[in-house]
Amino acid sequence: MKICVIGCGYLGAVHAASMAELGHDVVGIDVDEAKIALLSSGHPPFVEPGFDEVLARNVESGRLTFSTDYAATADCELYFIGVGTPQRRDSHGADLTYVHAAVEGLLPYLREGDVVVGKSTVPVGTAAELAPAVEAKGACLVWNPEFLREGFAVKDTLEPDRIVYGLPNDPQLARRAQAALDTCYAKILADGTTPRLLMDYQTAELVKVSANSFLATKISFINAMAQACDAVGADVAKLAEAIGLDDRIGKKFLRAGIGFGGGCLPKDIRAFHARAAELGLDETFNFLTEVELINESQCGRAVDALNEMTGGLEGKRVAVLGAAFKPNSDDLRHSPARTIARLLEERGADVVVTDPGAGPILAAQGDIDVAIDATTAITGADAVLLATEWKEFSELDPQALAPLARGKVVLDGRNALDAQKWKDAGWTYRGIGRR
Ligand code: UGA
Repeated sequence: MKICVIGCGYLGAVHAASMAELGHDVVGIDVDEAKIALLSSGHPPFVEPGFDEVLARNVESGRLTFSTDYAATADCELYFIGVGTPQRRDSHGADLTYVHAAVEGLLPYLREGDVVVGKSTVPVGTAAELAPAVEAKGACLVWNPEFLREGFAVKDTLEPDRIVYGLPNDPQLARRAQAALDTCYAKILADGTTPRLLMDYQTAELVKVSANSFLATKISFINAMAQACDAVGADVAKLAEAIGLDDRIGKKFLRAGIGFGGGCLPKDIRAFHARAAELGLDETFNFLTEVELINESQCGRAVDALNEMTGGLEGKRVAVLGAAFKPNSDDLRHSPARTIARLLEERGADVVVTDPGAGPILAAQGDIDVAIDATTAITGADAVLLATEWKEFSELDPQALAPLARGKVVLDGRNALDAQKWKDAGWTYRGIGRR
Protein backbone atom coordinates (compact mmCIF):
# COMPACT_ATOMS: atom_id res chain seq x y z
CA MET A 1 0.00 0.00 0.00
CA LYS A 2 1.00 3.63 -0.40
CA ILE A 3 0.90 5.11 3.06
CA CYS A 4 1.63 8.46 4.59
CA VAL A 5 2.30 9.19 8.26
CA ILE A 6 1.88 12.78 9.40
CA GLY A 7 4.02 13.62 12.43
CA CYS A 8 7.48 12.09 12.86
CA GLY A 9 7.93 12.05 16.64
CA TYR A 10 8.28 8.85 18.71
CA LEU A 11 4.91 7.63 17.51
CA GLY A 12 4.89 8.73 13.87
CA ALA A 13 8.51 8.01 12.95
CA VAL A 14 8.39 4.53 14.47
CA HIS A 15 5.02 3.85 12.84
CA ALA A 16 6.28 5.01 9.44
CA ALA A 17 9.40 2.84 9.62
CA SER A 18 7.42 -0.14 10.91
CA MET A 19 4.85 0.13 8.10
CA ALA A 20 7.73 0.18 5.59
CA GLU A 21 9.12 -2.88 7.37
CA LEU A 22 5.78 -4.58 6.66
CA GLY A 23 6.44 -3.95 2.95
CA HIS A 24 4.45 -0.76 2.33
CA ASP A 25 5.66 2.37 0.53
CA VAL A 26 5.66 5.05 3.19
CA VAL A 27 6.20 8.78 3.28
CA GLY A 28 6.61 10.49 6.65
CA ILE A 29 5.63 14.16 6.91
CA ASP A 30 6.73 16.63 9.58
CA VAL A 31 7.06 20.40 9.77
CA ASP A 32 10.48 20.12 11.46
CA GLU A 33 13.04 20.37 8.65
CA ALA A 34 16.00 19.28 10.76
CA LYS A 35 14.14 16.15 11.86
CA ILE A 36 13.13 15.32 8.29
CA ALA A 37 16.72 15.78 7.08
CA LEU A 38 17.99 13.43 9.79
CA LEU A 39 15.33 10.78 9.15
CA SER A 40 15.86 11.01 5.37
CA SER A 41 19.52 10.20 5.88
CA GLY A 42 18.49 7.11 7.87
CA HIS A 43 19.45 8.54 11.29
CA PRO A 44 17.03 8.50 14.22
CA PRO A 45 16.38 11.85 15.98
CA PHE A 46 15.89 10.07 19.34
CA VAL A 47 17.12 7.02 21.24
CA GLU A 48 14.86 4.02 20.66
CA PRO A 49 16.21 0.46 20.66
CA GLY A 50 15.91 -1.28 17.28
CA PHE A 51 14.55 1.81 15.52
CA ASP A 52 17.86 2.76 13.92
CA GLU A 53 18.12 -0.54 12.02
CA VAL A 54 14.49 -0.52 10.81
CA LEU A 55 14.84 3.11 9.77
CA ALA A 56 18.16 2.68 7.95
CA ARG A 57 17.07 -0.52 6.19
CA ASN A 58 13.86 0.97 4.82
CA VAL A 59 15.33 4.34 3.87
CA GLU A 60 18.05 2.49 2.00
CA SER A 61 15.57 0.29 0.13
CA GLY A 62 13.66 3.41 -0.94
CA ARG A 63 10.41 2.19 0.64
CA LEU A 64 10.58 4.89 3.30
CA THR A 65 10.93 8.57 2.48
CA PHE A 66 10.33 11.77 4.45
CA SER A 67 9.22 15.24 3.47
CA THR A 68 8.01 18.53 4.91
CA ASP A 69 5.68 18.94 1.93
CA TYR A 70 2.15 17.49 2.00
CA ALA A 71 2.31 17.26 -1.80
CA ALA A 72 4.54 14.20 -1.27
CA THR A 73 1.44 12.37 -0.03
CA ALA A 74 -0.48 12.94 -3.26
CA ASP A 75 -0.78 9.32 -4.41
CA CYS A 76 -1.24 7.72 -0.97
CA GLU A 77 -4.37 5.75 -0.07
CA LEU A 78 -3.94 5.53 3.71
CA TYR A 79 -3.08 8.59 5.80
CA PHE A 80 -2.01 8.10 9.41
CA ILE A 81 -2.10 11.06 11.80
CA GLY A 82 0.53 10.65 14.51
CA VAL A 83 1.14 14.22 15.64
CA GLY A 84 1.52 15.32 19.26
CA THR A 85 -1.34 16.47 21.49
CA PRO A 86 0.49 18.39 24.23
CA GLN A 87 -1.14 20.02 27.22
CA ARG A 88 -2.78 23.36 26.45
CA ARG A 89 -1.09 26.43 27.89
CA ASP A 90 -4.30 27.70 29.48
CA SER A 91 -5.70 24.44 30.93
CA HIS A 92 -5.04 20.76 31.55
CA GLY A 93 -6.89 19.86 28.32
CA ALA A 94 -5.16 18.53 25.20
CA ASP A 95 -4.01 21.01 22.57
CA LEU A 96 -5.36 19.77 19.23
CA THR A 97 -3.62 22.40 17.09
CA TYR A 98 -1.34 19.85 15.43
CA VAL A 99 -4.16 17.37 14.78
CA HIS A 100 -6.25 20.08 13.12
CA ALA A 101 -3.23 21.29 11.12
CA ALA A 102 -2.55 17.73 9.92
CA VAL A 103 -6.13 17.26 8.73
CA GLU A 104 -6.15 20.69 7.08
CA GLY A 105 -2.83 19.92 5.41
CA LEU A 106 -3.93 16.67 3.87
CA LEU A 107 -7.48 17.63 2.86
CA PRO A 108 -6.41 19.06 -0.53
CA TYR A 109 -4.79 15.73 -1.42
CA LEU A 110 -7.59 13.39 -0.32
CA ARG A 111 -9.42 11.49 -3.04
CA GLU A 112 -12.55 9.38 -3.19
CA GLY A 113 -11.95 6.09 -1.36
CA ASP A 114 -8.93 7.24 0.71
CA VAL A 115 -8.80 6.37 4.40
CA VAL A 116 -7.52 8.69 7.12
CA VAL A 117 -6.37 6.96 10.32
CA GLY A 118 -6.08 8.86 13.59
CA LYS A 119 -3.41 7.50 15.94
CA SER A 120 -2.79 10.54 18.15
CA THR A 121 -4.17 10.47 21.70
CA VAL A 122 -7.19 12.79 21.60
CA PRO A 123 -10.10 13.79 23.85
CA VAL A 124 -13.19 11.69 23.28
CA GLY A 125 -15.35 13.33 20.62
CA THR A 126 -12.47 14.47 18.41
CA ALA A 127 -12.93 11.87 15.65
CA ALA A 128 -16.62 12.68 15.29
CA GLU A 129 -15.71 16.37 14.91
CA LEU A 130 -13.06 15.72 12.26
CA ALA A 131 -14.97 13.14 10.22
CA PRO A 132 -17.30 15.47 8.20
CA ALA A 133 -14.42 17.36 6.54
CA VAL A 134 -12.75 14.08 5.59
CA GLU A 135 -15.99 12.55 4.33
CA ALA A 136 -16.75 15.65 2.26
CA LYS A 137 -13.74 14.61 0.14
CA GLY A 138 -15.16 11.13 -0.39
CA ALA A 139 -12.65 9.71 2.12
CA CYS A 140 -13.37 8.25 5.55
CA LEU A 141 -11.88 8.44 9.04
CA VAL A 142 -11.01 5.63 11.43
CA TRP A 143 -9.46 5.99 14.92
CA ASN A 144 -6.73 3.47 15.61
CA PRO A 145 -5.07 4.35 18.95
CA GLU A 146 -1.45 3.49 19.57
CA PHE A 147 -0.27 1.69 22.71
CA LEU A 148 3.48 1.59 22.10
CA ARG A 149 5.88 2.10 24.98
CA GLU A 150 9.07 4.08 24.50
CA GLY A 151 12.00 1.69 24.71
CA PHE A 152 9.88 -1.05 23.05
CA ALA A 153 8.31 1.07 20.33
CA VAL A 154 9.26 -1.03 17.29
CA LYS A 155 8.29 -4.31 18.96
CA ASP A 156 5.02 -2.86 20.25
CA THR A 157 4.17 -1.59 16.75
CA LEU A 158 4.98 -4.81 14.92
CA GLU A 159 3.78 -7.19 17.66
CA PRO A 160 1.00 -5.29 19.45
CA ASP A 161 -1.06 -6.74 22.34
CA ARG A 162 -4.16 -5.70 20.45
CA ILE A 163 -5.29 -3.51 17.56
CA VAL A 164 -8.28 -1.24 18.03
CA TYR A 165 -10.36 0.17 15.15
CA GLY A 166 -12.73 3.01 16.02
CA LEU A 167 -15.02 2.92 12.98
CA PRO A 168 -17.53 5.40 11.50
CA ASN A 169 -21.24 4.72 12.14
CA ASP A 170 -22.02 4.51 8.41
CA PRO A 171 -21.72 0.76 7.61
CA GLN A 172 -20.32 1.32 4.13
CA LEU A 173 -17.61 3.69 5.35
CA ALA A 174 -16.90 1.36 8.29
CA ARG A 175 -16.40 -1.58 5.91
CA ARG A 176 -14.05 0.46 3.74
CA ALA A 177 -12.00 1.70 6.72
CA GLN A 178 -11.79 -1.79 8.19
CA ALA A 179 -10.70 -3.34 4.88
CA ALA A 180 -7.97 -0.71 4.42
CA LEU A 181 -6.53 -1.25 7.91
CA ASP A 182 -6.79 -5.03 7.57
CA THR A 183 -4.71 -4.81 4.38
CA CYS A 184 -2.21 -2.50 6.04
CA TYR A 185 -1.79 -4.75 9.10
CA ALA A 186 -2.20 -8.05 7.16
CA LYS A 187 1.20 -9.41 8.20
CA ILE A 188 0.57 -8.62 11.88
CA LEU A 189 -2.91 -10.17 11.79
CA ALA A 190 -1.95 -13.18 9.63
CA ASP A 191 -1.43 -15.77 12.35
CA GLY A 192 -4.67 -14.82 14.11
CA THR A 193 -3.05 -14.30 17.54
CA THR A 194 -3.38 -10.49 17.71
CA PRO A 195 -6.86 -9.46 18.87
CA ARG A 196 -8.43 -6.90 16.53
CA LEU A 197 -11.26 -5.08 18.23
CA LEU A 198 -13.93 -3.18 16.30
CA MET A 199 -15.81 -0.37 17.98
CA ASP A 200 -17.14 3.15 17.49
CA TYR A 201 -15.04 6.34 17.55
CA GLN A 202 -15.86 7.27 21.14
CA THR A 203 -15.02 3.88 22.57
CA ALA A 204 -11.69 3.73 20.70
CA GLU A 205 -10.75 7.20 21.96
CA LEU A 206 -11.68 6.22 25.51
CA VAL A 207 -9.76 2.92 25.31
CA LYS A 208 -6.54 4.83 24.89
CA VAL A 209 -7.01 7.37 27.68
CA SER A 210 -8.45 4.83 30.08
CA ALA A 211 -5.48 2.48 29.52
CA ASN A 212 -3.02 5.25 30.41
CA SER A 213 -5.17 6.43 33.33
CA PHE A 214 -5.31 2.89 34.69
CA LEU A 215 -1.54 2.42 34.36
CA ALA A 216 -0.87 5.75 36.11
CA THR A 217 -3.32 4.81 38.86
CA LYS A 218 -1.63 1.46 39.34
CA ILE A 219 1.77 3.15 39.77
CA SER A 220 0.42 5.73 42.21
CA PHE A 221 -1.35 2.98 44.14
CA ILE A 222 1.90 1.10 44.69
CA ASN A 223 3.70 4.36 45.51
CA ALA A 224 1.05 5.11 48.15
CA MET A 225 1.64 1.61 49.53
CA ALA A 226 5.38 2.38 49.52
CA GLN A 227 4.64 5.38 51.74
CA ALA A 228 2.69 3.06 54.09
CA CYS A 229 5.62 0.61 54.04
CA ASP A 230 8.03 3.43 54.94
CA ALA A 231 5.79 4.42 57.83
CA VAL A 232 5.83 0.95 59.41
CA GLY A 233 9.12 -0.52 58.17
CA ALA A 234 7.51 -2.92 55.67
CA ASP A 235 8.86 -3.88 52.25
CA VAL A 236 6.86 -2.70 49.20
CA ALA A 237 8.77 -4.93 46.77
CA LYS A 238 7.72 -8.03 48.69
CA LEU A 239 4.20 -6.63 49.02
CA ALA A 240 3.96 -6.02 45.25
CA GLU A 241 5.22 -9.51 44.54
CA ALA A 242 2.63 -11.02 46.85
CA ILE A 243 -0.38 -9.08 45.56
CA GLY A 244 0.82 -9.35 41.95
CA LEU A 245 0.56 -13.13 42.08
CA ASP A 246 -3.20 -12.70 42.16
CA ASP A 247 -3.78 -12.60 38.42
CA ARG A 248 -6.73 -10.27 38.85
CA ILE A 249 -4.14 -7.73 40.04
CA GLY A 250 -1.10 -8.81 37.97
CA LYS A 251 2.49 -7.97 38.81
CA LYS A 252 3.27 -5.49 36.04
CA PHE A 253 3.31 -1.74 36.74
CA LEU A 254 3.60 -2.34 40.47
CA ARG A 255 7.18 -1.12 40.80
CA ALA A 256 7.33 1.59 43.43
CA GLY A 257 9.76 4.41 42.78
CA ILE A 258 10.18 8.12 42.24
CA GLY A 259 7.11 8.15 40.00
CA PHE A 260 5.94 8.09 36.42
CA GLY A 261 6.99 10.63 33.82
CA GLY A 262 7.30 10.91 30.05
CA GLY A 263 5.30 12.48 27.28
CA CYS A 264 2.17 10.38 27.84
CA LEU A 265 0.95 9.33 31.29
CA PRO A 266 1.25 12.74 33.04
CA LYS A 267 -0.32 14.63 30.15
CA ASP A 268 -2.96 12.04 29.32
CA ILE A 269 -4.44 11.76 32.82
CA ARG A 270 -4.71 15.54 33.01
CA ALA A 271 -6.31 15.77 29.58
CA PHE A 272 -8.74 12.98 30.37
CA HIS A 273 -9.74 14.61 33.66
CA ALA A 274 -10.26 17.92 31.85
CA ARG A 275 -12.45 16.20 29.24
CA ALA A 276 -14.37 14.31 31.93
CA ALA A 277 -15.07 17.64 33.63
CA GLU A 278 -16.54 18.95 30.36
CA LEU A 279 -18.79 15.88 30.37
CA GLY A 280 -20.00 16.71 33.91
CA LEU A 281 -17.84 14.00 35.49
CA ASP A 282 -15.27 16.15 37.26
CA GLU A 283 -15.92 14.66 40.70
CA THR A 284 -16.01 11.11 39.41
CA PHE A 285 -12.52 11.50 38.04
CA ASN A 286 -11.10 13.58 40.90
CA PHE A 287 -9.08 10.54 41.87
CA LEU A 288 -6.84 11.29 38.86
CA THR A 289 -5.77 14.49 40.62
CA GLU A 290 -4.87 12.34 43.64
CA VAL A 291 -2.94 9.99 41.33
CA GLU A 292 -0.96 12.99 40.10
CA LEU A 293 -0.40 14.35 43.63
CA ILE A 294 0.91 11.01 44.90
CA ASN A 295 3.18 10.89 41.86
CA GLU A 296 4.55 14.36 42.52
CA SER A 297 5.05 13.65 46.23
CA GLN A 298 7.44 10.80 45.39
CA CYS A 299 10.09 13.28 44.21
CA GLY A 300 9.88 15.40 47.35
CA ARG A 301 10.03 12.30 49.53
CA ALA A 302 13.18 11.09 47.73
CA VAL A 303 14.86 14.44 48.37
CA ASP A 304 13.83 14.32 52.06
CA ALA A 305 15.24 10.79 52.32
CA LEU A 306 18.57 11.92 50.84
CA ASN A 307 18.60 14.89 53.18
CA GLU A 308 18.15 12.57 56.16
CA MET A 309 20.67 10.03 54.90
CA THR A 310 23.38 12.65 54.32
CA GLY A 311 22.69 14.61 57.51
CA GLY A 312 21.72 17.68 55.45
CA LEU A 313 22.12 18.28 51.72
CA GLU A 314 23.76 21.71 51.86
CA GLY A 315 27.13 21.51 50.10
CA LYS A 316 26.88 17.75 49.59
CA ARG A 317 27.76 16.25 46.23
CA VAL A 318 24.96 13.98 44.98
CA ALA A 319 25.44 11.66 42.00
CA VAL A 320 22.11 11.21 40.19
CA LEU A 321 22.21 8.08 38.05
CA GLY A 322 19.70 8.63 35.27
CA ALA A 323 17.90 11.61 33.80
CA ALA A 324 15.51 10.17 31.19
CA PHE A 325 12.00 9.29 32.41
CA LYS A 326 12.74 5.61 31.78
CA PRO A 327 15.68 3.51 30.64
CA ASN A 328 16.54 2.93 26.95
CA SER A 329 15.26 6.38 26.11
CA ASP A 330 16.65 9.91 25.94
CA ASP A 331 13.25 11.43 26.66
CA LEU A 332 13.43 14.05 29.41
CA ARG A 333 9.78 15.09 29.32
CA HIS A 334 8.27 15.16 32.84
CA SER A 335 11.22 13.16 34.07
CA PRO A 336 11.14 12.58 37.86
CA ALA A 337 14.95 12.23 37.76
CA ARG A 338 15.25 15.76 36.46
CA THR A 339 12.74 17.13 38.95
CA ILE A 340 14.74 15.60 41.78
CA ALA A 341 18.03 16.96 40.43
CA ARG A 342 16.46 20.44 40.47
CA LEU A 343 15.02 20.00 43.98
CA LEU A 344 18.41 18.81 45.26
CA GLU A 345 20.08 21.90 43.85
CA GLU A 346 17.42 24.08 45.48
CA ARG A 347 18.32 22.43 48.79
CA GLY A 348 21.97 23.44 48.31
CA ALA A 349 23.36 20.15 46.99
CA ASP A 350 26.04 20.00 44.33
CA VAL A 351 24.46 17.71 41.74
CA VAL A 352 26.13 15.65 39.05
CA VAL A 353 23.95 13.68 36.62
CA THR A 354 24.78 10.85 34.26
CA ASP A 355 22.56 9.13 31.70
CA PRO A 356 23.59 6.87 28.80
CA GLY A 357 20.79 8.21 26.59
CA ALA A 358 19.94 11.73 27.71
CA GLY A 359 23.45 12.68 28.93
CA PRO A 360 24.52 14.40 25.68
CA ILE A 361 21.26 16.38 25.54
CA LEU A 362 21.73 17.59 29.12
CA ALA A 363 25.38 18.43 28.48
CA ALA A 364 24.39 20.52 25.45
CA GLN A 365 21.81 22.39 27.56
CA GLY A 366 24.66 23.22 29.93
CA ASP A 367 22.63 23.96 33.07
CA ILE A 368 23.71 20.95 35.11
CA ASP A 369 26.97 19.10 35.72
CA VAL A 370 26.93 15.97 33.53
CA ALA A 371 29.34 13.06 34.04
CA ILE A 372 30.29 10.67 31.27
CA ASP A 373 29.38 7.56 33.30
CA ALA A 374 28.29 6.31 36.72
CA THR A 375 31.82 5.70 38.01
CA THR A 376 32.86 9.27 37.20
CA ALA A 377 29.66 10.64 38.79
CA ILE A 378 30.06 8.59 41.97
CA THR A 379 33.74 9.46 42.42
CA GLY A 380 33.86 11.97 45.27
CA ALA A 381 30.08 11.95 45.82
CA ASP A 382 28.51 12.09 49.27
CA ALA A 383 25.40 10.24 48.13
CA VAL A 384 24.09 8.33 45.12
CA LEU A 385 20.55 8.33 43.79
CA LEU A 386 19.44 5.73 41.27
CA ALA A 387 16.81 7.69 39.33
CA THR A 388 16.46 5.75 36.05
CA GLU A 389 16.98 2.00 36.06
CA TRP A 390 19.36 1.66 33.11
CA LYS A 391 20.89 -1.83 33.03
CA GLU A 392 24.38 -0.34 33.35
CA PHE A 393 23.34 1.19 36.68
CA SER A 394 21.58 -1.82 38.18
CA GLU A 395 24.64 -3.91 37.31
CA LEU A 396 27.15 -1.57 39.01
CA ASP A 397 29.63 -3.20 41.36
CA PRO A 398 29.12 -1.54 44.79
CA GLN A 399 32.33 -3.09 46.09
CA ALA A 400 34.43 -1.41 43.39
CA LEU A 401 32.61 1.92 43.82
CA ALA A 402 32.86 2.09 47.61
CA PRO A 403 36.46 3.44 47.79
CA LEU A 404 35.68 6.08 45.14
CA ALA A 405 32.72 7.69 46.93
CA ARG A 406 33.11 10.19 49.77
CA GLY A 407 29.90 8.99 51.42
CA LYS A 408 28.63 5.45 51.03
CA VAL A 409 24.97 6.39 50.90
CA VAL A 410 22.64 5.13 48.18
CA LEU A 411 18.95 5.83 47.58
CA ASP A 412 17.49 3.35 45.12
CA GLY A 413 14.77 5.48 43.53
CA ARG A 414 13.58 2.64 41.28
CA ASN A 415 14.02 -0.32 43.65
CA ALA A 416 16.23 -1.79 40.96
CA LEU A 417 19.47 -2.45 42.87
CA ASP A 418 20.46 -5.63 44.68
CA ALA A 419 20.02 -4.17 48.18
CA GLN A 420 21.95 -6.91 49.96
CA LYS A 421 24.92 -6.55 47.62
CA TRP A 422 25.16 -2.81 48.32
CA LYS A 423 24.79 -3.31 52.06
CA ASP A 424 27.43 -6.06 52.04
CA ALA A 425 29.80 -3.62 50.31
CA GLY A 426 29.36 -1.19 53.21
CA TRP A 427 26.79 1.17 51.71
CA THR A 428 23.88 2.61 53.65
CA TYR A 429 21.05 1.52 51.35
CA ARG A 430 17.48 2.76 51.20
CA GLY A 431 14.85 2.03 48.54
CA ILE A 432 11.40 3.50 48.01
CA GLY A 433 9.18 1.71 50.53
CA ARG A 434 11.94 -0.67 51.49
CA ARG A 435 15.26 -0.59 53.33
C1 UGA B 1 2.93 4.79 28.11
C2 UGA B 1 2.08 3.51 28.07
O1 UGA B 1 2.70 2.49 28.86
C3 UGA B 1 1.93 3.02 26.62
O2 UGA B 1 1.10 1.88 26.58
C4 UGA B 1 1.32 4.16 25.79
O3 UGA B 1 1.17 3.79 24.44
C5 UGA B 1 2.22 5.37 25.88
O4 UGA B 1 2.36 5.78 27.26
C6 UGA B 1 1.57 6.47 25.07
O5 UGA B 1 0.49 6.91 25.46
O6 UGA B 1 2.08 6.79 24.01
P1 UGA B 1 5.57 5.24 28.01
O7 UGA B 1 5.26 6.68 28.21
O8 UGA B 1 6.58 4.85 26.99
O9 UGA B 1 4.24 4.42 27.66
O10 UGA B 1 6.11 4.73 29.40
P2 UGA B 1 5.71 3.61 30.47
O11 UGA B 1 6.42 2.37 30.19
O12 UGA B 1 4.24 3.54 30.62
O13 UGA B 1 6.33 4.25 31.77
C7 UGA B 1 5.85 5.51 32.24
C8 UGA B 1 6.52 5.89 33.53
O14 UGA B 1 6.05 5.06 34.58
C9 UGA B 1 8.04 5.78 33.54
O15 UGA B 1 8.56 6.96 34.13
C10 UGA B 1 8.31 4.57 34.39
O16 UGA B 1 9.54 4.65 35.07
C11 UGA B 1 7.14 4.61 35.35
N1 UGA B 1 6.80 3.30 35.94
C12 UGA B 1 6.38 2.29 35.15
C13 UGA B 1 6.87 3.13 37.33
O17 UGA B 1 7.22 4.06 38.08
N2 UGA B 1 6.52 1.91 37.87
C14 UGA B 1 6.11 0.88 37.09
O18 UGA B 1 5.80 -0.18 37.65
C15 UGA B 1 6.04 1.07 35.71
